Amino acid sequence: MSVSRRSFIATSAAATLGASSTAAGGSTALGTQARPADDTMKGVSKWDLDTPALCVDLDALERNIAAMQSRLRALKVASRPHAKTHKCPAIAKLQLASGSIGICAAKLSEAEVFSANGIGPILMTTSNVSPAKIRRAMALRRSNSQFVQAVDYAPNARDLNDAAREAGIVADVVVDVAVGSRSGVPAGDQAIALGQLVDRLPHLKLRGIISYDGGAQHIKGFKARLDQTLNRFAPSLETFEAFKRSGLSTEIFSGGGTGTYNILPRADGVTDVQVGSYIFMDCQYIEIGGESNEQVYDDFLPSLTVVTTVLNTYFPKSITTDAGAKALTLNRPGPWVLGEHEFTYNAGSDEFGVIRYETARRSYAVGDKLDLIVPHCDPVVNEYDQLYAIRKDRVEAVWPIVARGKSQ
Ligand SMILES: Cc1ncc(COP(=O)(O)O)c(C=O)c1O
Repeated sequence: MSVSRRSFIATSAAATLGASSTAAGGSTALGTQARPADDTMKGVSKWDLDTPALCVDLDALERNIAAMQSRLRALKVASRPHAKTHKCPAIAKLQLASGSIGICAAKLSEAEVFSANGIGPILMTTSNVSPAKIRRAMALRRSNSQFVQAVDYAPNARDLNDAAREAGIVADVVVDVAVGSRSGVPAGDQAIALGQLVDRLPHLKLRGIISYDGGAQHIKGFKARLDQTLNRFAPSLETFEAFKRSGLSTEIFSGGGTGTYNILPRADGVTDVQVGSYIFMDCQYIEIGGESNEQVYDDFLPSLTVVTTVLNTYFPKSITTDAGAKALTLNRPGPWVLGEHEFTYNAGSDEFGVIRYETARRSYAVGDKLDLIVPHCDPVVNEYDQLYAIRKDRVEAVWPIVARGKSQ
């Protein structure tokens, strides 16, 4: 077991939640459908929820949102949180209310959901290349004047321009400058040429640059992450300077994520960071270490957990639960059982989790509840219709994950 996992589970405040997680009262009847997202669940104990149940601790969530805002304020950049993490308009509204300048969306169907639920400023960080999506994106821009679309390919810019003309609009566009090779136009001449093309096209309005480095976010150790992030970002920064010299718009210069929120602002000109996971945290992020704690990334509190029920304890050193791959995904590392740092949780079966252990801090019986930190928050959230918003172990609200499954 890694040092960070052991020390995190053993010492975090959240671990005390899991240590007392025996079902506190009768279990609720198993239903075949998700509970309706209404007030009937208000006040119910977290430990009485039907499981697997996706829960967010409101005190921790609010603290994370406030902490990000105050740290970014000191670094003089804004937040434009990536809503792919939570897919939940209720959380987007909390982020905007705390001072975020907008949200990001990864998929057009996600952007459509947020817009339909009253969120104006949406930056779509993925390009739309099929004719149907281009038409839909321009229809969204027509209905939401704050929708901004990424582009990384000259023919796509021309297609967007044609669709914007047909829709009778001038559409806002940012050039996606690649860091690594996943997406985006290569930094330098090709990016500048694309910026100039967008600037010339009469039905597009260039707003600036986005440049996200997916490979940098989980680099372990703050010093390594700092050095590599700034190194890898240097070509984007040079492209940004060239945009400015050429008179191209640099109103937006956006990138970064939870792992680099306090690194990217060191690059001059960055306007905002597209932080996603900081609201929830997960095993993958906790393991990377932070600036003040090399073992555990504790800049933000883990607020998201899945509550699961023990189904079987017949077999020695083994516990079966009701949360498998469909509740937790197959991402690595496997989920962490709060309060039990010696447990190894295998979510490999679709509907069952299997825990193996040598020693346990207490004994477990069928019906007991366990609280789990999830491997990677985004895909786990995408498995649930609703998120229980919990304060002091009681349901305060039930938030529909409205953009759940919106992957097109
Ligand atoms: C383009 C883009 N920006 C921002 C993020 C947010 O990253 P994180 O959840 O690591 O904060 C992601 C996540 O994958 C992303 O794809």
